[in-house]
Amino acid sequence: MNPLSWIDDELASLERRHLRRERLTHAGPQAARLLIDGRESINFGSNDYLALAADPRLGAAASDAAAGAGWGSGASPLVTGRASLHRQLEERLAEFEGTEAALTFSSGFAANLGAIAALVGPGDAVYCDRKNHASLWDGCRLSRADVRAYPHNDCRRLAELLAAAGRYRRRLIVTDGLFSMDGDLAPLAELAQLAERHRAMLLVDEAHATGVFGRNGRGTTEHFGVEDRVHVRVGTLSKALGGVGGFVAGSRSLIEWLVNRARSYVFSTAAPAAAAAAAVAALEVVRDEPQRRESLLARAKTLRDELHAQGWNTGLSASQIIPLIVGDPRRATALSAKLFQRGLFVPAIRPPTVPEGEALLRISLTAGHSEETIAALIGALKACGQSIIAV
Ligand SMILES: Cc1ncc(COP(=O)(O)O)c(C=O)c1O
Repeated sequence: MNPLSWIDDELASLERRHLRRERLTHAGPQAARLLIDGRESINFGSNDYLALAADPRLGAAASDAAAGAGWGSGASPLVTGRASLHRQLEERLAEFEGTEAALTFSSGFAANLGAIAALVGPGDAVYCDRKNHASLWDGCRLSRADVRAYPHNDCRRLAELLAAAGRYRRRLIVTDGLFSMDGDLAPLAELAQLAERHRAMLLVDEAHATGVFGRNGRGTTEHFGVEDRVHVRVGTLSKALGGVGGFVAGSRSLIEWLVNRARSYVFSTAAPAAAAAAAVAALEVVRDEPQRRESLLARAKTLRDELHAQGWNTGLSASQIIPLIVGDPRRATALSAKLFQRGLFVPAIRPPTVPEGEALLRISLTAGHSEETIAALIGALKACGQSIIAV
């Protein structure tokens, strides 16, 4: 008997429950219009919030760097993998974030895994919002600290958990700043207050907010004015910054500790230096073109208002990520398919990415969406969504 035959049974079970994932393939650059599986579509699925993924300035920075420094980085950054471009990027990130130092990882996922497991371990406690991203959850589990989950954004329950804690060596609160599926913000001022009261560390994952929120685009910590009260800031280079990689920004001692103890940094090959060059170029755009984030957030608000007027449930979204919560995965996939037929790509998000009963279509607005493309989405939702809303 084939010892892997159980996989076919499991896949069939996913299929029956409308939970099996299929991959689409697109041709051409990642942009607001995409050729997906041969069909020209308006792309409401990417995290390319500032429309930088296909920006020629990033492409030129990467190809110039690759021409000079080659492609591969050859080793872990602790051995011979750290190029002068990585160092430059870390200096620019610290400057951008207004922190003493920053450290880059090969992905945002790796940054969360490495940072959390380096900050807490056996004998410690970590407090995790139930709707935190999988990489935060996996970091918590990997740390072997006691993991205490609190209901989404529920500071009262978190306060109870912190007050009831036994004798832990260290405590860490981890939260997304902007939640990736619901598009709502964490109550960072309250979380910072709880962290101070209970002498806990506070880590905020800014993956979806870097470049978008805050006067300088530093994210939700800047938006809420709590930059000095958040000890560990995690970000990605892969969403608004249009490239690939992750980072942690904070004090010099924090970064030195991670250089020594974050296993996903120590034991993993550095990202290509060319990716660092592209990220440096992206940070310059974020600094010089604030209108990208400002008009994005203004358009997102207008879109949310229009959707409410049509009767859609967009939860507590307050950002460029706007969920259309439909509940049942079958309804989510049916609506997504209808929109795709009309040339609009809006992915259906189903369990386990969201909790059971909360399947949704995730509209991800970017600076590349014109008013006409947004109007096309509003019109299509009006035409094919009424039956979904009514159920
Ligand atoms: C909140 C959050 N954190 C971290 C990550 C991981 O970042 P990356 O895609 O750079 O690995 C993601 C990716 O979707 C995310 O949504």
